[in-house]
Amino acid sequence: MADEMVPLNDSLSVDFRLWEHDIRGSQAWARELGRAAVIPQKEAETLVSGLDAVAERLAADGVGGHTDEDIHSLVERLLHDEIGEVAGKLHTGRSRNDQVVTDLRLWGMEAARVLDDALSAVLGGLVSLAGRSVDLIMPGYTHLQQAQPVRAAHWALSHFWPLMRDRDRLRQARARASSLPLGSGALAGCPFPIDRDRLRDDLGFDRLSENSMDAVSDRDWMVDYVFAAGMIGTRLSRLCEDLVIFSSREFGYLRLGDGFSTGSSLMPQKRNPDVAELTRGKAGRLIGNITALLTVIKGLPTGYNRDLQDDKSILFDSVDTLLLILPALTGTLAEVKFQPENIAAQLDWQLLATDLADYLVKKGVPFRKAHDAVAHLVLAAEREGKAVHELPEDALREAHPEFSPDVVAGLTWEASVEARASVGGTARSAIETQLATAQAALAGRLDLNGDD
Ligand code: ARG
Repeated sequence: MADEMVPLNDSLSVDFRLWEHDIRGSQAWARELGRAAVIPQKEAETLVSGLDAVAERLAADGVGGHTDEDIHSLVERLLHDEIGEVAGKLHTGRSRNDQVVTDLRLWGMEAARVLDDALSAVLGGLVSLAGRSVDLIMPGYTHLQQAQPVRAAHWALSHFWPLMRDRDRLRQARARASSLPLGSGALAGCPFPIDRDRLRDDLGFDRLSENSMDAVSDRDWMVDYVFAAGMIGTRLSRLCEDLVIFSSREFGYLRLGDGFSTGSSLMPQKRNPDVAELTRGKAGRLIGNITALLTVIKGLPTGYNRDLQDDKSILFDSVDTLLLILPALTGTLAEVKFQPENIAAQLDWQLLATDLADYLVKKGVPFRKAHDAVAHLVLAAEREGKAVHELPEDALREAHPEFSPDVVAGLTWEASVEARASVGGTARSAIETQLATAQAALAGRLDLNGDD
């Protein structure tokens, strides 16, 4: 191979981290070659124990100093060092094309468990933040304008549910990964009498791929996986945006823990929300990875193509990035503190304008009319620079004759959130139900058999 070609061709620096999965896949293959009497049982045993020795060596020494093209060539060469000639029988009926994607699926399924735990920790952090903020009422926003009051717990859980959907999505991607391609050969299947069902049992996959040509180039599960990671990045960027805004002096709704705030090299007073900004920034690469992977796959002719070698760095990057940000966010959520006085200071009476309209509706006024009346009242109050309860009684009656003096007394933050008691609303009872549902949903752990 030309010198200039070698670094382009090689992938060991990227795929080295598949070594355990490569050995596991190879041992299963060796066992099946023995069981199917493609090679003598004794030789199969030699291959399996030789691969154990290779594993020990790789665990101890790492990749350092090896110049093999990829992890598959490295393992095979080391196996030859251990057991000599018979190592050459391992690759009987197998191709690196079905081998690499078997390794990758095994890796992805395992990483999904680690990600699931890391994601569940963030979800747990949101639930516990919600649990400690049921009593706290804050402005709820649309268009980043004060809209209606909500319990702070409701805000926290509004970030919980989307992330739960993402956890599901990741579990689905894992379940899709659980289709075994081994036995597909380079493209046309295996000419020896191996039993792929036994291989599937041995490696713990749920299903077998149905078409060998499809199997060696199918990266659908990986696209789903990288997409799930992109969704998680997108979710977290929104949570982080709230954290940045709410921890600013202008809002002051919450304070990040000391361990998750950073100072400035120049301005001694600074307390920057870097954890949230870094996470928001990382969403960019998680989203970019979706396009990167689809672009690698797009337009490939049938079967394996070497372009696919580039799938790994994308998948690994998505997983690594998530494993960087998820623990930091879990820590952030554990230490973040609401600042009730600052929140109370920002609650503007106009947050209750809808409740004023609802008051009229309960007296039989059509909602559209009630909406108009309150809009006029808000304008009048603004003109006077007053809150509605500071206006003279006539002003209310002028806005609508159905307003009686009791209206102002009933106008509280608590009454407003309590009025919304249907499922998914802000009343204490609804929030308590929501919290219990969230806890129960979170408790369902990833089922390794993939039926989740
Ligand atoms: N390193 C290769 C990859 O990651 C392994 C498969 C090589 N197959 C081939 N036909 N050259 O895709």
